[in-house]
Amino acid sequence: MSEAIKLRLENIGKRFDVAGAARTIAVQDFTLDVAQGEFLVIVGPSGCGKTTVLNMLAGLELPTSGTVSLNGRRITGPGPERGVMFQDYALFPWHTVWGNVEFGLRHGPAGDGLDAAARERRVRSHIDLVGLSGSEGKYPHQLSGGMRQRVALARLMANEPAVLLMDEPLAALDAQTRIILQEELLRIWGQDRPSAERRTVVFITHAIDEAVFLADRVAVMTTHPGRLKAVIDVPLPRPRDDATRAQSQFQALSQHIWGLIRDEAYRATVT
Ligand SMILES: Nc1ncnc2c1ncn2[C@@H]1O[C@H](COP(=O)(O)OP(=O)(O)OP(=O)(O)O)[C@@H](O)[C@H]1O
Ligand SMILES: [Mg+2]
Repeated sequence: MSEAIKLRLENIGKRFDVAGAARTIAVQDFTLDVAQGEFLVIVGPSGCGKTTVLNMLAGLELPTSGTVSLNGRRITGPGPERGVMFQDYALFPWHTVWGNVEFGLRHGPAGDGLDAAARERRVRSHIDLVGLSGSEGKYPHQLSGGMRQRVALARLMANEPAVLLMDEPLAALDAQTRIILQEELLRIWGQDRPSAERRTVVFITHAIDEAVFLADRVAVMTTHPGRLKAVIDVPLPRPRDDATRAQSQFQALSQHIWGLIRDEAYRATVT
């Protein structure tokens, strides 16, 4: 790969020692580089260690062996240059849409150096970006699931992190909303822009079609212990849209990846 390496996972291992239970090797011998501006998607059966890998990139967990680094510096904890988004919205129910998007800028390092007017412009532009203008005064319980994930996305992007770490952010949504948000996500990520100007994304999903639609590369994990089984290039041209899904190459890649995880995915449903 000729591009600059942004994230590096080198021989990562993660073992969980739980009192009174057998220890779990969640991740073993995991080595992977993610390039600046790359959209990397991790797929694999339930329990194969995807969230554990993401948590180590976020600095929420530390590896028990190997090193995780960002721009050549070892990751030892969370940092403002990495933004995390989870499946369950994690919005503050007592804040409006505006308050949720503004939160990190008011209370976190992302807002350092922004005066009130600049902060307001930043919040405004990110609410517009995710298509929620007009809803800024609503509270999370007044929004649909898709709208809540738009708020979570606006909040993440408003902090302008260089790296986006996303753990099944669309999994709780219905199929139609999900397809729409996949395209929105690529637009917001900046799929029209050169990779130097894009954010680097690590995105986890169970859905293979979602992985192929979004990714520059798909990392396929295998379970017990969680290892990297294959890394598949997705050379589908960008910008991608509905027509992309109809391409034979899209379907061939989806089938290839399904073939890599099918047996284990079946087993994961009966264990
Ligand atoms: N804090 C923890 N303590 C003990 N075991 C853990 C902990 N976190 C994860 N594990 C174990 O590590 C393994 C990998 O878990 P992880 O959550 O990373 O999987 P996953 O691929 O994200 O699964 P899913 O697709 O269901 O979200 C599992 O066996 C899990 O039980
Ligand atoms: Mg998980």
